Amino acid sequence: MKKHVLEALKNNKDRFISGEELSSRIGVSRTAVWKHIKHLKEEGYEIESFSRKGYCLLKEPDTLNGHALEIDIDSKCIGHKVYHFDTIDSTNRMAKKLASEGAKEGTVIIAEEQTGGRGRRGKQWISPKGSGIWMSIILRPDIELAEAMKITQVVAAAVATAIEKVTKFQVGIKWPNDIIMDKKKVCGILTEMSAEVDCVNFIIVGIGINVNTEDKDFPEDIEKIATSIKSCTSEKVFRKDLVKEILNEFEELYVDFIENKNIKKSIEICKKYSVTLGKEVRIIKRGEEMFAKAIDLSEDGQLIIENKSGKIETVLSGEVSVRGLVDYV
Ligand code: BTN
Repeated sequence: MKKHVLEALKNNKDRFISGEELSSRIGVSRTAVWKHIKHLKEEGYEIESFSRKGYCLLKEPDTLNGHALEIDIDSKCIGHKVYHFDTIDSTNRMAKKLASEGAKEGTVIIAEEQTGGRGRRGKQWISPKGSGIWMSIILRPDIELAEAMKITQVVAAAVATAIEKVTKFQVGIKWPNDIIMDKKKVCGILTEMSAEVDCVNFIIVGIGINVNTEDKDFPEDIEKIATSIKSCTSEKVFRKDLVKEILNEFEELYVDFIENKNIKKSIEICKKYSVTLGKEVRIIKRGEEMFAKAIDLSEDGQLIIENKSGKIETVLSGEVSVRGLVDYV
């Protein structure tokens, strides 16, 4: 019901809407309307109220309130249901729990703060309160295991496009799943999967973006290699706008990949933004280190390299670090 009150206020931003109108529209008592308004105000919504005129929404807070996101999101499936937490250990962990209890494809779990945010290779992901986007998406694609590995490229393409659209600042993709601004990492993607031998049960895509994080909020060792969108652009970003854009971009590329079996567009975007191609990369394969030149991405998103003896090979994610760009994890 609170969602319906908020929806009515958002759709009538330029006028007062009376308690009576709200109660008949939504089908609850005026006291219930008043209670929902009170809760919204407590959540940071600036709502002007006059006893004869009713209520008028003046300003929304920069929280990632699930109701507000559900109302604002234009995508059809991705984000149709949003679980919002003030504090949580890890949105990926919660997403796994909800997925194993049957949560539908496209369910989004988002938090203001993570106390046990997880990065790749078991690393910690710093997720201070209210300053970033800490979000996981539940996916249930009907695809084979080998195909599922490519999802990360689709996500990276969507996030890079969305950040550039919203900030107008140049972004890069460090293959396969780091988003870079000003040569430092602003976003990491953690894709996890539950699968049987021949099919995927669900995939969890975890996206962590340092949006308005201050440099001082990063531990010393991470400050050297990580940054935030705000530190690069000198402007605070309204996180909800970025979340909406990411979910929209992702839905388009994801549908193309799953329904049309076409990952071309995502790979083209990954190539366009790549900060890896043309560089010397360090490959760790079965514990052994070697250097090679990254020359292209294959049609399915694997990195194509030319080693020192001129041999062309493809490498899987997790085996590469790009020289000159410090590894975050
Ligand atoms: C990386 O190591 O680059 C991946 C970082 C992924 C962090 C995100 S934040 C939201 C989601 N929940 C987690 O615990 N991790 C991911």
